[in-house]
Amino acid sequence: MDLAPPRGTRDFFPKDLRLRNWLFGHFREVSRLFGFEEYDAPVVESEELYTRKAGEEIVQQLYTFEDKSGRRLALRPEMTPSLARVVLQRGKSLSLPIKWFSIPQCWRYERMTRGRRREHYQWNLDIFGVAGVNAEAELLSALTTFFTRVGLGSADVAIKVSSRKLLQAALESLSVPADRFAEVCVLVDKLEKVPPPGIEVEAKTLEFSPDMMNRIREFTSSNSLEETARLVGEDHEGVRELRQLFTLAGEYGFGEWLQFDASLVRGLAYYTGTVFEAFDRGASLRAICGGGRYDRLLSTFGGEDIPACGLGFGDPVIIELLKDKGLLPELPEQLDDVVFAFDPSLRPPAMQVANRLRQQGRSVDLILEDRKLKWAFKHADGRGASRLVLLAPDEWAAGKVRVKDLKTGEERDLSLEDL
Ligand code: HAM
Repeated sequence: MDLAPPRGTRDFFPKDLRLRNWLFGHFREVSRLFGFEEYDAPVVESEELYTRKAGEEIVQQLYTFEDKSGRRLALRPEMTPSLARVVLQRGKSLSLPIKWFSIPQCWRYERMTRGRRREHYQWNLDIFGVAGVNAEAELLSALTTFFTRVGLGSADVAIKVSSRKLLQAALESLSVPADRFAEVCVLVDKLEKVPPPGIEVEAKTLEFSPDMMNRIREFTSSNSLEETARLVGEDHEGVRELRQLFTLAGEYGFGEWLQFDASLVRGLAYYTGTVFEAFDRGASLRAICGGGRYDRLLSTFGGEDIPACGLGFGDPVIIELLKDKGLLPELPEQLDDVVFAFDPSLRPPAMQVANRLRQQGRSVDLILEDRKLKWAFKHADGRGASRLVLLAPDEWAAGKVRVKDLKTGEERDLSLEDL
């Protein structure tokens, strides 16, 4: 039997889980600082929640199966559809705006590269009920707060920002019907990722002439918001919103992290306005995280739309980046005491001593087998304990235990009260 986990998935040994918990601790703490509440949903959902028809990669990468009653189910590849489902289920009883976060495990049958796996954990931050870019500014502030907390600065990470409304303006000038918008965004997102023959086939199915594709390429290669503003009009909604977002970023104090990038569209069909992605400036890794505004997702599920925006932040890329930068923390095991009975007759009092220490909130490893003292020392040392507490016949007869401080080597006999 192959003992490795399925390709693209991970086992988390205690050391790995300490690192994961450290990262999630930062996700949770930043969420708390910004007033987001945690929610969760099932990892298995109805397949139809995800089968959008815009040609997205994420739909082709679905893990799907049929349960014993013939229901078509899927492992969630992302959290946003579940969140939309939950919000719709509550309907008018939710008092808006809501700010929610989660750290779901997500599944995608992905081509494996550094930082891309078939399962990953994804910190999600979402705001429902705020129509203006104040919401995006708050999300990006949370994001840069996270980066700063783990030791990364704006010299290490950049956040590319654009708005789909700009591309929409360009498409309108090419007379592309509005109902094709999502499909075209998904195609434009592939321009730099998929080899030209693949793009040509997809462009043909969308009835896009090579001339139209060239004009879209030209539009997305604009170098500045000023240049784009000249193309779509200074007073265009997308331009105004982005300018406002850059102003807000300055006011929050994270302006130096942001850069406008007209080629940023993102590959998910549901985004309608601002889109953003964080990258390491060394550009050796895939996107660290991404998000945007999705004001019309709820109506695709038959509900009434609510303005919404959010971001998803996977665990693999950030860990790779922190590793590259030498910023991974040392996370030794946290154990206070190892309690050891010199001989089997002292095991019952050793249990009581361990209990007493545990009631005080100390983490205690009670040695459960008959072992030599030398072994107990080695074991306590190996587990990084602070103290070894020994129950020896003479000392115990006098109501005392021997305590060795494993950091200083100092030994003392203490009564249970003093322990
Ligand atoms: P996404 O761009 O598909 O967006 O994924 C967001 C982030 O999740 C990526 O930038 C990356 O950090 C991580 N990620 C995605 N796939 C993988 C993978 N195979 N391996 C490792 N990490 C991965 C979404 O999923 C949107 N639902 C995000 C969102 C939330 N938008 C609004 N709210």
